[in-house]
Amino acid sequence: MCGIIGYTGKREASEIMLDALELLEYRGYDSAGIALFPENGGPVRIFKKAGRVHDLRELCAKNDVTGHCGIGHTRWATHGGVSDENAHPHHFKDVTITHNGIIENYRQLIERYELDGKLTSQTDSEVVAAVLSHFYTGDPYAAIRKTVLKLKGTFALSIMFDDIPGKIFAVRNVSPIVAANTEDGAILSSDVAAIVPFTTQYFVVPEFHVVCLSGDGIEMYDLSGDKARIDWLTVDWDISRSDKGGYPFYMEKEIMEQPRVIGETVKPRIKDGKPDFTAEGIPDEMLASCRRICVIACGTAMHAGLVGKSLIQSLIGIHVDVVMASEFMYNDPIVDKTTLVIAISQSGETIDTLEALKFARKCGSPSISIVNVKGASIARASEYVIYTNAGPEIAVASTKAYTTQLAVLYLLTARMAIARKLWSDEQMKEYMEELQRVPAVMEEVLKSKEEIHHIADTMLNARDVFMIGRGLDYSILLEGSLKLKEISYIHSEAYASGELKHGTIALITEETPVIAVVTQDKLKSKELSNIKEVQSRGARVILLIKGQEELEQEKIWSRIFRLPVMKDEFMVMPVSIVLQLIAYYVSLDKGLDVDKPRNLAKVVTVE
Ligand code: F6R
Repeated sequence: MCGIIGYTGKREASEIMLDALELLEYRGYDSAGIALFPENGGPVRIFKKAGRVHDLRELCAKNDVTGHCGIGHTRWATHGGVSDENAHPHHFKDVTITHNGIIENYRQLIERYELDGKLTSQTDSEVVAAVLSHFYTGDPYAAIRKTVLKLKGTFALSIMFDDIPGKIFAVRNVSPIVAANTEDGAILSSDVAAIVPFTTQYFVVPEFHVVCLSGDGIEMYDLSGDKARIDWLTVDWDISRSDKGGYPFYMEKEIMEQPRVIGETVKPRIKDGKPDFTAEGIPDEMLASCRRICVIACGTAMHAGLVGKSLIQSLIGIHVDVVMASEFMYNDPIVDKTTLVIAISQSGETIDTLEALKFARKCGSPSISIVNVKGASIARASEYVIYTNAGPEIAVASTKAYTTQLAVLYLLTARMAIARKLWSDEQMKEYMEELQRVPAVMEEVLKSKEEIHHIADTMLNARDVFMIGRGLDYSILLEGSLKLKEISYIHSEAYASGELKHGTIALITEETPVIAVVTQDKLKSKELSNIKEVQSRGARVILLIKGQEELEQEKIWSRIFRLPVMKDEFMVMPVSIVLQLIAYYVSLDKGLDVDKPRNLAKVVTVE
């Protein structure tokens, strides 16, 4: 969490940084700040404020912020509340820093370097500035090296020394930093999204390497002081993909993009009508030999994993565990070389997923990651990586990243069937054709946006919304429920319909909205009976059902949405669009900040 930016070059650093911080705001939006070497010399000047980047912009407009070298930050508070003092950048004597991550041993450092009473904030980050200052005697590399060796925790640090104007130094452990040369300077950031407006060439700063940005470009050294080679990457999305494209919120744009990005994720991986991971180098022997699969992920990505579990268990017959990455280490995980570990992550930076993956690899597990952000830590920590070509996902609530993760899981399932010689040619053909039909089916659902909007409006004043379904329907509802609560602040729970009678049904009262999903032929009659049970207890049922077929039961819904027909195992795709749109419209019509719900950040780099 938190976004960092740094620029040095011919242009006004404040302008570049304020624009970039707006793009990075999804990483945290409690406070924002910039620090600059002033145009005409003199000590570094800091402008920072609790609030959003537009508040910082107002503060900057009232001050002289001219200067060509600076660092900036947008914060998601961890240590220390949301206040002006705790906003970054932090300055201690001759050192100014911004920090993303958590310094676990900051209390010990305060004691060790006798900093009690000398700090102006309650943050762990200011301590790093103080330790750097302690070690700084004119050699920035030596000070950085000595400091990082004292730090426990995660950090992406950008650093300026008062007596080295025009230069920015950066170093990281776990938390990301990317850097690039621009036409007129050099830039660093937590995310390529902030770099895309300037260049398509960038690199990911390797852990424990020190980069120095100056008007002459970028140099990189390892911790022993040797010059290190820079591995350049190319951004493969154009800038128009990271703006709102005329929509009021990124989330709506990202929902609408799904048919295209699913196509872009699936098509390049089909050869002669079959799934193909040659480009990723994934060997069939690995898919054929694993005895068990363990999916590790958090939140929405974990919900994608649950759909993957249903697919793989039912179509391939391998046991799959889906483990919440944040709990992985506390359950004495049993993973070994016979367990294929699949780590799923949009950002590729979620610390819990990364740590669980690293642990599994130490145990000898083969691993594949499914990641959206190119070159992200999880991608680099896994043996093989399959990128979801969703493009930048800016809204905090994940939509297109989720459905492209599903698309990859469909492909992977089919490749496993090839590796294990399980399906007939006919079965493969039907499955792959259905997968390629997904974008068109999604388009069809998107055309019914207004109908879904009306359904959403019936939930605006609800205190609780329950969601019920069985099997795959339940898996997709877990995601739908998360979407609704995170952006509309309405309490919502998804329940396997069969579980209701074991307690939850006590919560159903007159007019409680219950979204029921019925898309699995073999579960239909049971699901319909469960709907009847809640309806007879007063629930207002919103039924999402496959196809146009008349239902025998008396009317059990107050609203109904007819979903286009796909094979059962693909129905999660159209359903996901409906549930995303419901959450979106509820949040929009409640007048909330859809893209930046309270308390959240897009990238979770703290445990
Ligand atoms: C919810 C959401 C989160 C993320 C979770 C994992 O809309 O986006 O639940 O899915 O924080 O993030 P990644 O996928 O970046 O590892």
